[in-house]
Amino acid sequence: MAELELWVEKYRPRRLDEVCGHKEVIAALKGFVSRGTIPHLLFAGPPGTGKTTVALCLANELFGEEHAAENYLELNASDERGIDTIRTRVKSFARTASVSGASFKIIHLDESDNLTADAQQALRRMMELYSSTCRFILACNYLSKIIPPIQSRCAIFRFSRLSLEDIIGRLAYISKQEGFDVGRDVLEEVARISEGDLRRAINLLQALLSTTAAPSIEDVHHLAGYVSPAKVKEVIDLIFKEKDLKKGIEAIEYLLYEVGLSSTDLLKQMYREIVASPAIPPEKKLKIIETIADVDFRISEGASDDIQLAYLVSSLCSM
Ligand SMILES: Nc1ncnc2c1ncn2[C@@H]1O[C@H](COP(=O)(O)OP(=O)(O)OP(=O)(O)O)[C@@H](O)[C@H]1O
Ligand SMILES: [Mg+2]
Repeated sequence: MAELELWVEKYRPRRLDEVCGHKEVIAALKGFVSRGTIPHLLFAGPPGTGKTTVALCLANELFGEEHAAENYLELNASDERGIDTIRTRVKSFARTASVSGASFKIIHLDESDNLTADAQQALRRMMELYSSTCRFILACNYLSKIIPPIQSRCAIFRFSRLSLEDIIGRLAYISKQEGFDVGRDVLEEVARISEGDLRRAINLLQALLSTTAAPSIEDVHHLAGYVSPAKVKEVIDLIFKEKDLKKGIEAIEYLLYEVGLSSTDLLKQMYREIVASPAIPPEKKLKIIETIADVDFRISEGASDDIQLAYLVSSLCSM
């Protein structure tokens, strides 16, 4: 059996020019490349938007693809179990001179917002100690979790969610390369569901095309565990019209247990439908959104889905 090749890896850009979106970030980084050096960098932004990829592209461009691997160390702050392991690995990597004539090596510390404040203090000292031989590229999802002294040592670049058009363009390119002819409406739906995360979009596309060569929008919804907006709207209308707690809970249970929607996805979709509905007056929308936000928060903190959703239905019935 042929080994399954993941498209996210196969189509990971190797040069800065191949990266989708992030025009200003890429232009600034190309400026560093043309001068042959970089400062410490901090990339902040949501998952699947290209932070690790851009760090690898920088290594390729600064060291040449054949030497990039020797001069580039990637550590993950979440798996490396504490700053001591990181310190040991950084120390032994920083000790040897860089290959290919570059004057420094790159240490990419992924998910650095998972380091504790103490670990970040230790990292701050390492950044100083090794700055003559190494440049750090830190990546994080939340900039606010990085202590100010580290922020001030780095040039900060923000990675935003990728636009719908950027994602559609990349998906169209990949499906064409793989020999598929996929409709724009299907690619658009994959892109929309992925919410700016290109990794998620590519994975969804690959899963979709491995089951059928001519997918429909329904196939996308089915695979992503996404229910058509019309169905969610039907349930909301039913709750408002009938104001019957039992029927409302049954309708929600149907979406959760028969259709397979997760409670957080259900809340997100209800939120979207309610915001978009012209039939609900603005002051009522505010109250509903407040209730959805409370329920969402409590579920994320570990409260029971069933009870929270029943509470939501009962609040909607009484409005
Ligand atoms: N801007 C982009 N241009 C082209 N491909 C991208 C881009 N962003 C993500 N990808 C695709 O998604 C995959 C994952 O991207 P990457 O590992 O760079 O995400 P990340 O921002 O580091 O995410 P995380 O925060 O989860 O570490 C890449 O291998 C590539 O296929
Ligand atoms: Mg990453």
